[in-house]
Amino acid sequence: MAADKRIAVIGASGYGGLQTLRLLADHPHFSVTFLGGERSSGRRWSEITPFLPLEGDPVVRPPEPEAIAAVADLAVLSLPNGLAARLVPELLQRGVKVVDLSADYRYRSLAQWQEVYASEARETPRQDNDLCQEAVYGLVEWQEEQIRTARLVAAPGCFPTASLLALLPFLNQGLIEPAGIIIDAKTGSSGGGRAAKEHLLLAEAAEAVAPYGVVGHRHTSEIEQVASQVVGHPVALQFSPHLMPMVRGLLATVYARLGDPGLTADDCTTLLKAAYRSSSSVEVLPVGTYPSTKWVRNTNRALLSVQVDRRTGQLIVMSAIDNLIKGQAGQGVQCLNLMAGLPANTGLPLLPFYP
Ligand SMILES: NC(=O)c1ccc[n+]([C@@H]2O[C@H](COP(=O)([O-])OP(=O)(O)OC[C@H]3O[C@@H](n4cnc5c(N)ncnc54)[C@H](OP(=O)(O)O)[C@@H]3O)[C@@H](O)[C@H]2O)c1
Repeated sequence: MAADKRIAVIGASGYGGLQTLRLLADHPHFSVTFLGGERSSGRRWSEITPFLPLEGDPVVRPPEPEAIAAVADLAVLSLPNGLAARLVPELLQRGVKVVDLSADYRYRSLAQWQEVYASEARETPRQDNDLCQEAVYGLVEWQEEQIRTARLVAAPGCFPTASLLALLPFLNQGLIEPAGIIIDAKTGSSGGGRAAKEHLLLAEAAEAVAPYGVVGHRHTSEIEQVASQVVGHPVALQFSPHLMPMVRGLLATVYARLGDPGLTADDCTTLLKAAYRSSSSVEVLPVGTYPSTKWVRNTNRALLSVQVDRRTGQLIVMSAIDNLIKGQAGQGVQCLNLMAGLPANTGLPLLPFYP
């Protein structure tokens, strides 16, 4: 049996931190021993978060690696992009394993991160290309063995999680053409984090649906990186996100041209079910049943559904997740579980309270 582990949560007061703490409150083998933050630093937890009491009502502290290493075996970093890279080298040096929820270690090369996250790169000079290469991309259903032995896991972004779960089984089997893939995705406003942003005000985002980041959204290159690794040559695809008037939830609809136009929706559903037969976080719906974000709200589950349009030769895969759970903190806890020698879904909710 794996030993119990002590966990530091850095960025505790943010959305990812709050979900992580809520999930860990029900965990049979993990205890939270350090809370880190910046503006919340020095304050008692109950002052800032009266709705989520924590044992001993800890004080939030600055995330100093020495202090974290003194009390924690593993750390979850849920920080704005560019900040994890300031902590990770020192945490690893001190023997603390890390699950980072930001994009800092999602690219295999530091140069690519510096290109895609150029504004953050200007604020955070980095030399840790070796760690970018060492980090394991934490898409649990595809990297389980590598995550088990990793010191550093980069949890995928929310859009890449939903999109890649839909795409990879078909790309991996060579059943779709890698050129011409389109991902049309919708997310709730919590995807932008807890810090105030004008476009996420109720008056701006409510009663409206709007695209953003069309051509060049940062998650495009993240999805392309993984798709290219699976296919074995560079893949370029189209990704258009939309902001929906809801708090949480993410739906990605992926379009790709089938290599064999004779394949049916039943064939593709069978393939998808086989790909995820041992993953309790991923459920494939029957043909003709389409996923709703409400069906996965507050859970670590992804719901997938496939259709085939025989007239156009298009495969259509729909993928719904909770952006803050399977798209962020829940996947982070899955990674912690694997790194601690536990089954991936230990302590994680898979069923929603509906509606
Ligand atoms: N939201 C999503 O759906 C989602 C999904 C997947 C991945 N992600 C990624 O996960 C990361 C966290 O996102 P989020 O939405 O949870 O962000 P958030 O709600 O804005 O929270 C950010 C947290 O970082 C802390 N922080 C900021 N500057 C800090 C500093 N210099 N030192 C220490 N702590 C600092 C804040 O603490 P104080 O309040 O104490 O300043 C806050 O707790 C981001 O990189 C994001 O891209 C987000």
